[in-house]
Amino acid sequence: MGILSRSSASRKPNETMRLIVTTFFGVVLGFFIGVSFPALSLTKLNIPSNFLPAPVQLSYSDETSSGLSTQINEWSSAKINDSSSKQDQHINDPTKIWVTSNPKGAERLPPGIVEATSDFYPRRLWGNPSEDLTSHPKYLVTFTVGYDQKKNIDTAVKKFSENFTILLFHYDGRTTEWDEFEWSHRAIHVSVRKQTKWWYAKRFLHPDIVAPYDYIFIWDEDLGVEHFNAEEYIKLVRKHGLEISQPGLEPNKGLTWQMTKRRGDREVHKDTTEKPGWCTDPHLPPCAAFVEIMAPVFSRDAWRCVWHMIQNDLVHGWGLDFALRKCVEPAHEKIGVVDSQWILHQTVPSLGSQGESYNGKAPWQGVRERCRKEWTMFQSRFSNAEKKYFKSQGVDPSIAH
Ligand SMILES: *[C@@H]1O[C@H](CO)[C@@H](O)[C@H](O)[C@H]1NC(C)=O
Ligand SMILES: *[C@@H]1O[C@H](CO)[C@@H](O)[C@H](O)[C@H]1NC(C)=O
Repeated sequence: MGILSRSSASRKPNETMRLIVTTFFGVVLGFFIGVSFPALSLTKLNIPSNFLPAPVQLSYSDETSSGLSTQINEWSSAKINDSSSKQDQHINDPTKIWVTSNPKGAERLPPGIVEATSDFYPRRLWGNPSEDLTSHPKYLVTFTVGYDQKKNIDTAVKKFSENFTILLFHYDGRTTEWDEFEWSHRAIHVSVRKQTKWWYAKRFLHPDIVAPYDYIFIWDEDLGVEHFNAEEYIKLVRKHGLEISQPGLEPNKGLTWQMTKRRGDREVHKDTTEKPGWCTDPHLPPCAAFVEIMAPVFSRDAWRCVWHMIQNDLVHGWGLDFALRKCVEPAHEKIGVVDSQWILHQTVPSLGSQGESYNGKAPWQGVRERCRKEWTMFQSRFSNAEKKYFKSQGVDPSIAH
């Protein structure tokens, strides 16, 4: 402190003058540099990367740097965590991006960069991305499989042309074994042990992920496809305007609903007669607006709705078949069975053997009991949700349909 004051006191007047002049010119020069290079990139970043052959150079224009300051402002005001106040802040400042038509949560992005949907198209690791894909399959077929069913699945997969993306959900953890089949190299394999078809569907078939596909097949592994042609099936589904469908089932041993039984005399049917007293309304399940959950086929739009209806914890999907009609309107016209492309249900109790002994009961018994329980739970959740909704709208739930 003493040294400083002493030196300033002993400074000669002309020295002080020189200091002032230098400072002045320094400021003026700085001002002109600033004015003449407004777009001078201050935030030019060099990111050397071990992954890439050359350093990636990201240069930000001055617009981006104002974006950067936006973010800094927000960090400093992070305590204001009310989203509407953030939104107001953006609407009032045209230099900040806020696009309400963007997907929720992505409002800060310029729409041109937003990719709201994806696909299952494998890509190359090299070359020009625009030349990666030699085809864009329009249909998706998924099978939930165990390796023991390989013969059946091999036969089934071969019924689907190159216009289909093949996706296998493996419940037994065996995936590489499938590589003995040529098609397996092109298929998508998802392996999670001991889960059900609807568990996989909820987790891996989000509507935004399967968005490029016109139709989505969500099939069991025990279907006989000898009399089934996938391309023909799609043609019929389009022709008859079926949003949710299944191939007719060849009546064989075991219980089947009348609705899903194959009829030999037509392409498609949308209703049936059941045993007396089973149908309260000819337009309602199980007489119409109904397919089973073993081999359903959904249009893109129908699947978007059905996906939302699948409960995360009700993994067996029992009761879904009766509720599918809530997703299309009018359901008795848009849900149907394709008779001329039909399948056999071979009823292999594959998932039952994946259960565990519980309370001294056989694994299959435990699974069966859970299926029934889930059915009841799903039904009551659905009807409670409907009641709650209609009540909130001031509508008497008993008159709503
Ligand atoms: C942010 O919002 C949540 C939910 O509205 C609230 O629970 C939380 O306390 C808020 N945090 C701050 C820091 O205000
Ligand atoms: C695949 O789709 C294209 C275009 O719709 C069609 O022309 C072709 O016949 C289909 N492939 C097969 C094997 O049916």
